[in-house]
Amino acid sequence: MDLKIYKDKQEVAEQFSSYFVDQLKGKDAFYVALSGGSTPKIVFDVLAENFAGKINWSKVHFYWGDERCVPPSDDESNYKMTVEHLFSKIEVPKENINRILGENDPVNEAMRYANLLEIDLDRVEEVPQFDLVILGMGDDGHTASIFPHEIELWDYEDHCVVATHPDSGQKRVSINGKVINTAKEVAFLVTGASKAEKVKAVVQKTEGSDAYPASLVNPSSGKLVWFLDEEAAAKLNQNPS
Ligand code: 6PG
Repeated sequence: MDLKIYKDKQEVAEQFSSYFVDQLKGKDAFYVALSGGSTPKIVFDVLAENFAGKINWSKVHFYWGDERCVPPSDDESNYKMTVEHLFSKIEVPKENINRILGENDPVNEAMRYANLLEIDLDRVEEVPQFDLVILGMGDDGHTASIFPHEIELWDYEDHCVVATHPDSGQKRVSINGKVINTAKEVAFLVTGASKAEKVKAVVQKTEGSDAYPASLVNPSSGKLVWFLDEEAAAKLNQNPS
């Protein structure tokens, strides 16, 4: 596990962008699963600002690790957020953008998306393999859209599952454990003080941390990197508080 700790969100975004560009080097095609929520916004802004004209975006194939079951025009949509902060600023072929159809029936869409991944990506023991899965982590220790109250979804045989947000009841379509841990590389993007307690629990595997889906991220490749700001990393290596 590689921990990269930077001063603030901006520096996390800059450093992650450089890392992402490095990942593309020498590759004809690169398959990436994007995360949603608010953290990626600044990352996408920096990526677009610093590298819009420097990357051959036609070799990047974009998928999502999870999506809210809302129309693509909805402010809750991870796809909409990514269009606003990245796709509207770069030259990327439309066929490279493989959104989860949030407007569809969640169960049908989870099946459709799982099939799409199985067709589009290389497979390792029948599991679709991304070059990179980008993940966030919620204050409750969820990742992608696998939440603690239904952590059993992590181990489902299906490669995409229908999840339910614990507070809002909002349905989500999410990749789960097998796909995440089959990825060639996994990068967590986690910033802000509200994440510090769970970062400590998950990174240092403290008592009870196995209740948090983020603690189950353990790619077989061994390539797991955390991009953290100082606020999110503040409780690491301290005695239990
Ligand atoms: C989503 C995400 C989710 C997110 C975490 C962190 O659709 O919301 O995929 O897993 O990464 O909730 O969200 P923030 O970056 O907004 O804290």
